[in-house]
Amino acid sequence: MEAREKEVLNLDEASMLFQVSTKTLLKMLRDEAIPARKIGREWRFSRTALMEWLASGNSLDYAAAEAGVKEYFDQLAPEYDETRVKCYGSALRDILLEKAPVAESAVVADIGTGTGYLAKALARKASHVYAVDVSPEMLAVARREMAKESLGNVEFIEGDANELPLADAAVDMVFANMLLHHIADPGLALAQFFRVLKPGGQVVIADIEEHPHAWTKKEKSDLWQGFDRDELAQWLTESGFVQVKAEELGCDCCTTGSKGQMARIKVLMATGVKPVA
Ligand SMILES: C[S@@+](CC[C@H](N)C(=O)[O-])C[C@H]1O[C@@H](n2cnc3c(N)ncnc32)[C@H](O)[C@@H]1O
Repeated sequence: MEAREKEVLNLDEASMLFQVSTKTLLKMLRDEAIPARKIGREWRFSRTALMEWLASGNSLDYAAAEAGVKEYFDQLAPEYDETRVKCYGSALRDILLEKAPVAESAVVADIGTGTGYLAKALARKASHVYAVDVSPEMLAVARREMAKESLGNVEFIEGDANELPLADAAVDMVFANMLLHHIADPGLALAQFFRVLKPGGQVVIADIEEHPHAWTKKEKSDLWQGFDRDELAQWLTESGFVQVKAEELGCDCCTTGSKGQMARIKVLMATGVKPVA
């Protein structure tokens, strides 16, 4: 029987109904009052209750979340660099590139490049940099800043991490700094990172560790309150990566809210290699 016709659905079937991955549905279960019951270790859903929940508009916030991220960064673009310096300075980039060295001949991609914080440093090391971001306003700042550097090996591309506008096996390394916590289903982006990497290529992710500051979701357009290192490592493995590692990077990210709330969050680094078939 089709999942759409059954009344009692398991996690996979409910994911199909929502048209999201099971990972995303589990996140929705954590974040929202989705009607569901846990029987032992298994989730069970009533199709009718789920359809009512969807019709009530409760899920609209979630569906709109990624579109909201783009608008958020479009608006933030003019002052982003000032904000970023308060969150993390050049230390993050320096530690990351020391731990994940880039060969002179490497073709690399910086996904969610923003105003080019990492792309600028990558351009000094690699032969070519694809710098991808979903926000045209962030890219406009990045282009302006890059023009001051007389570095001619960076190609800025407007595009979505979930559907990267890069060819299969195009790059030696994929970097994503502070991107994943703005992505509803990181599994989709990881699959794209895997696709665009050459066999033997490396993915290098820096992001925030799991934290208790729920206000960052409302105020910073964060879709995730950071990540558990082991969980992120597992997602990388599930995406096909080998030699997966997830560790503390060795610096913090600090941010403040509109009511003076402060958060100091540890930064993690996760890496993996696309196997040579
Ligand atoms: C916190 S900023 C980090 C920017 C940069 N990596 C840095 O460290 O300064 C997140 C960036 O990811 C971009 N972004 C968010 N969702 C994206 C997506 N689905 N695809 C591509 N870029 C995205 C945003 O527009 C923003 O520029």
